[in-house]
Formats: sequence, C-alpha cells, structure tokens
Amino acid sequence: MMSQTPYEAIGGEQTIRKLVAAFYSRVANDPLLSPIFPEDLTLTEQKQFMFLTQFLGGEPLYNNMYGHPMMRARHMAFQVTPLRAERWLKLMKESMDEIGMEGPAREYMYERLIQVAHHMVNSPDDET
Ligand code: HEM
Repeated sequence: MMSQTPYEAIGGEQTIRKLVAAFYSRVANDPLLSPIFPEDLTLTEQKQFMFLTQFLGGEPLYNNMYGHPMMRARHMAFQVTPLRAERWLKLMKESMDEIGMEGPAREYMYERLIQVAHHMVNSPDDET
C-alpha cells in the first residue's frame, strides 16, 4: 500500500522490539562501544525503541516521554568517534540480518541511520 509509513512497512512494534534487543546485546559485548554505555542497557534499549518508533513514522513515543530528541546534543557527553559510528552501524546491520529484516523498507531505514550516525560523530578516532 502506497500510504504505508516505513514503521508499518518494517513490521511495526514487533520488529523494532526484536531489533533493539538484538542490537543492545551486541553493544554489551562490543569492546569499542560497551565502555561508553551504561552496564545496564534496559533503559537505553527502551529509549531507542521509542526513538526508532517515531523516527520511522510511528507514534511520537520518545517526544512524549523525553521531549525534543536533540540527538546530537544528547550524545555530546560521550566520545562518538568515526570508528564507533561505523561499529554502531555494523552492529545494526548484523541485528537486522539476525531478525530477518529485508527489502526496501530495511534499506530505507538503514540509509537514514547512516546519516544520523555520521551526524553524531563528535570526537576524533585518536581519543578512542
Ligand atoms: C543514547 C552512543 C548513534 C539514538 C546513547 C548513549 C550512548 C550512545 C553512549 C547513552 C546511553 C544511555 O545513557 O542510556 C552512540 C554511538 C553512536 C550512536 C557511539 C554511533 C554513531 C545513535 C544513532 C541513533 C541513536 C544513529 C538514532 C538512531 C540514541 C538514543 C539514545 C542514545 C535514542 C537515548 C538518548 C536519551 O538518553 O534519551 N547513544 N549512539 N544513537 N542514542 Fe546513541
């Protein structure tokens, strides 16, 4: 259906729940990313679920709870280097593979995440 949002096209809540679970279990075990994340990723995963829901055209769950995303500003407290951005994207791609996402909606989502990830970079690699 032409009027479908990307959120609907990827499979809605179920897909995003599975995706964030797969993604943060990778983050927890990643030597480059885990040091800058909290040990308990429960809330991080929940926030990302809310953010991705609205990012793809679902309900504005993140804004309702936390206000304007200002994602770059919220990441300034963490050293987001080019290497960390590439790792973030690699783990996201692996997570999409793991849960069986495929097709144009996946490609669209991933392309947009590449843009956001690059926009988050705020430190050079030699600080990693
Ligand atoms: C929060 C790292 C890219 C969305 C965080 C946090 C870290 C982080 C360390 C704090 C976790 C916490 O305190 O709970 C990174 C790194 C990235 C990256 C290294 C590499 C480029 C992205 C992208 C998105 C995103 C591409 C959007 C799709 C979020 C959200 C939060 C968050 C929604 C929660 C913000 C809040 O506290 O309300 N990120 N991030 N991040 N990140 Fe990222």
